[in-house]
Amino acid sequence: MDRWTTIIEPFRIHAVEPIRLTTQDERERALEEAGWNLFSLHADDVLIDLLTDSGTGAMSRDQWAAVQHGDESYAGSPSWFLFRDAVQELFAFKHIIPTHQGRAAEKILYTVVGGPGKIIPNNTHFDTTRANVEFTGAEAVDLVIAEGRQPALIHPFKGHMDTVALDALLAERGADSPIVVVTITNNSGGGQPVSLANLRAVREVCDKYGKPLFLDGCRFAENAWFIKTREPGQEHRSPKEIIQEIGRLVDGMTMSAKKDGMVNIGGWLAMNDDTLAEQCRNLLILTEGFPTYGGLAGRDLEAIAQGLREVVSEDYLRYRIESTAYLGNALLEAGIPCVQPFGGHAVYLDARALLPHIPPLEYPGQALAVELYRAGGIRGCEIGTVMFGMRPDGTEVSGPMDLVRLAIPRRTYTQSHIDYVIEVARDVAARAGSLRGYRIAKQPKQLRHFTATFAPLA
Ligand code: F0G
Repeated sequence: MDRWTTIIEPFRIHAVEPIRLTTQDERERALEEAGWNLFSLHADDVLIDLLTDSGTGAMSRDQWAAVQHGDESYAGSPSWFLFRDAVQELFAFKHIIPTHQGRAAEKILYTVVGGPGKIIPNNTHFDTTRANVEFTGAEAVDLVIAEGRQPALIHPFKGHMDTVALDALLAERGADSPIVVVTITNNSGGGQPVSLANLRAVREVCDKYGKPLFLDGCRFAENAWFIKTREPGQEHRSPKEIIQEIGRLVDGMTMSAKKDGMVNIGGWLAMNDDTLAEQCRNLLILTEGFPTYGGLAGRDLEAIAQGLREVVSEDYLRYRIESTAYLGNALLEAGIPCVQPFGGHAVYLDARALLPHIPPLEYPGQALAVELYRAGGIRGCEIGTVMFGMRPDGTEVSGPMDLVRLAIPRRTYTQSHIDYVIEVARDVAARAGSLRGYRIAKQPKQLRHFTATFAPLA
């Protein structure tokens, strides 16, 4: 490392995509048309789109070259073998099953292992994961450590699974628990990492009860960087070596390649167990496609293979994690409470703390997210009572936290884009007391945050 401290993007821009500038009046009209749901906006009405880091990143020159190399044979395409080998180089599972994205892998896995009366322990289920578990009639249980539920508390690995709670749960209901899952990084808890030590401890509990351990591995490379920089004894290892060890500690994984696969679409399901793999492949053929392409084109498989080579780069990961922290530090300095430490892929603003005058059931996260868009065209995502406040039986509770996630697409925005976000957020925070809550005007039974419509409260 050189002595300079400015974080530079470790790439030059090779193709550009225009951003359409909008006025506040235009954005207010867009909000009204969208029922104040940011998922319903036209994306070209958004200036800086921090809705998600999923599938929104920029591919590299070499990934676009790989796209050209794609082979679209229905069965046994060379692109499939490239993909399989690239996944196995990091995660040496016997069976690699491509899917069109993460939730397709989840749907297949939980259809096979879930069902009424079953429970699935996870550090924290992501929303689609929870929905896929619950859709089978099973119960999704979140067992993150207590520190992981306190937004302002500093802890190096807030994504840890509470292994005492896991042990107690399996002692009581082990027979109902087909697998145990650890999500890295813990997205719903603020993009927080899990250490190797915790994974080993979870492994031990799983072994005690004879339970397979699965990863929800979406952001495995960011998690590996946190291990390298925060876990004692890991600083001299490469991200790749750390990832390989993570892979050896578990029995399988679901993956959305739209995150650390560095692509716009793709995913996989992987495991060592032959019987489970056969059941999963049979379902895959029904819903996704033949086992050598899943729901993907050959060119997508090639882009993932190349993306997996790029995501383990130390220069990339250092820039990725430090540039996210750059945004977080500036927001903290502006007096905006954030989940700390900062996640790898996103900064999570603590709307409940910033807007104490708006009760959870008036959706402070929604109020903050809408205002960031109205004022500056920045689209974030509520992760709080709107997302998690509806129980399967239709009753409403406050979510565990009320956060607004500003997720950073990979290799897409520059530091001046981020400086603009900081300027807008500062302005919104300065008039936080004048923000008002929302009520839900219309909502579906599941995953309501995607399609609900809202109305501002007077
Ligand atoms: N698991 C985690 C931890 C995720 O963050 C996501 C997606 C999925 C599973 C599902 O993957 O979208 O490919 O089907 N998270 C995105 C997000 C949508 O914005 O955080 P998918």
